Amino acid sequence: MTEQTETVPEARDIVLEARGVSKHFRVRRNTGDVLARRHRAVHAVDDVSLKLRRGTVTALVGESGSGKSTVARLLAQLYPLTGGEIHLEGRAVKAGRGRSFRRYVRQVQLIFQDPFASLNPVHTVRYHLSRSLKIHGRAGSGEADLEAGLVALLERVQLTPPQRFLDKFPHELSGGQRQRVAIARALGADPQVLLADEPVSMLDVSIRLGVLNLLKDLKDRLHLAILYITHDIASARYFADSTLVMYAGRIVEGGDSETVTQRPAHPYTQLLIASAPDPDRVVAPEEQQETGSGEPPSLIAPPAGCRFHPRCPKAMERCRTELPPRFDLEGGQWAACWLYDSATVTKEAAAK
Ligand SMILES: Nc1ncnc2c1ncn2[C@@H]1O[C@H](COP(=O)(O)OP(=O)(O)OP(=O)(O)O)[C@@H](O)[C@H]1O
Ligand code: SF4
Ligand SMILES: [Mg+2]
Repeated sequence: MTEQTETVPEARDIVLEARGVSKHFRVRRNTGDVLARRHRAVHAVDDVSLKLRRGTVTALVGESGSGKSTVARLLAQLYPLTGGEIHLEGRAVKAGRGRSFRRYVRQVQLIFQDPFASLNPVHTVRYHLSRSLKIHGRAGSGEADLEAGLVALLERVQLTPPQRFLDKFPHELSGGQRQRVAIARALGADPQVLLADEPVSMLDVSIRLGVLNLLKDLKDRLHLAILYITHDIASARYFADSTLVMYAGRIVEGGDSETVTQRPAHPYTQLLIASAPDPDRVVAPEEQQETGSGEPPSLIAPPAGCRFHPRCPKAMERCRTELPPRFDLEGGQWAACWLYDSATVTKEAAAK
């Protein structure tokens, strides 16, 4: 097989792509210094690139404040980009109000952490789902079509029999049922991409797996590309095909989920894994001691060089000043860490 025939299906599988995307939020401070006020910004997301593929789940994992929700909101076009580009099916997307923007909003749907907040308490399930079908032009031509569409949506999220749920208000449902309604509403648009921002973190532990399995089922049956945002790297192993790790606004490691969670390459991923015990993983005692500690940095003045260097037990001299690029490792895994630059390691060893 030629190189060309191998790469074409791969390119066709990519539904949504972020290329070097950044978001800086301007913030005010109360010093009365007008110049300083003008220049302060939270560097919430810097130079993030990712690809979401048809029929796959990609996990985006990181601590609180690392920029995960901002990435989801940028991908959903809820914020203008500070820099970079977003491509849907290979075409660059321009924010605005035109036809292509409306098509984008239909194709890329966001599911929030708190289903109670995202559903209007004064409206029934029927209202929420009918509105989604109507807005996205999928309500059909009469009452019977609309009813059939509502039933199909509820069956797709396994709320059956549908008639039992259609006329319920959000407060009459359990947390898991509400999140299923929020997912059904997103499916009303017939999207290609679901951006699920911590979709189970507010649910009881006992029902989380059911909702994650539903998303997995939708990925398989509807061939959706799903971004699964989570604090919980252990869940990424079981639920996501590939995993990206985010630290202080940057993606620092990526690869297939099994490799990233079982053989993490970046010291920050190792720290996350060490604080999320997994019974299947065997971690040597010496590795456990080398996990580093401390708090994430301020994103108003992020550390120079590698943003993880103040917490990194393996930090070297150049880590303090030079930003590590992405180093490709085996089997598609990569890490933005100077440890994987053979020239750096040799130089540091010689200096000791
Ligand atoms: N609208 C905003 N204005 C100013 N700063 C913001 C805004 N939204 C987010 N931030 C800041 O950007 C950074 C990243 O926030 P974000 O919500 O994306 O993180 P997160 O990884 O989703 O965190 P969590 O896990 O707590 O949900 C944080 O420092 C946050 O305070
Ligand atoms: S680049 Fe340096 S500071 Fe950053 S994670 Fe790698 S070793 Fe640690
Ligand atoms: Mg968030």
